[in-house]
Amino acid sequence: MTDYKQLVKAAYEAQKMAYAPYSHWVVGAALLTAEGKIYKGCNIESATFSPTVCAERTAFFKAVSEGERHFAAIAIVGNAEGTAMGKADVCPPCGVCRQVMTEFCGGDFEIVLAKNYDDYAVYTLAELMPLVSLPIK
Ligand code: THU
Repeated sequence: MTDYKQLVKAAYEAQKMAYAPYSHWVVGAALLTAEGKIYKGCNIESATFSPTVCAERTAFFKAVSEGERHFAAIAIVGNAEGTAMGKADVCPPCGVCRQVMTEFCGGDFEIVLAKNYDDYAVYTLAELMPLVSLPIK
């Protein structure tokens, strides 16, 4: 059973590291491997915009570059800098991040979108990324 609360907490920890001086939209992600290890990621922006990377991909690329290939779930939190806890909306992953998830995860991979520590919704990758071209395995 996925410990969603623990994963959301880790996503909030990751969010503290967000580097978002341009959009001021701060995002944290916590990626759970099939074996129970958590990799955290934040968004990292650039003055030239296009090198910007989302929190989700930071977490995935950290994990994959350490040899991880099997994943169970990711929690994502995002809000405008300074938003009071409980006032934030969810931060659904962008299309590029969904594509990266599809590269490494099956349709049952869980995506946890949190508004605060206690208020979150769980989706599967199949729900958020229907009709995809699957990676060659
Ligand atoms: N961002 C993420 O990190 N994850 C998402 O799911 C949506 C967007 C980042 C990218 C950029 O730094 C900022 O949020 C505004 O789009």
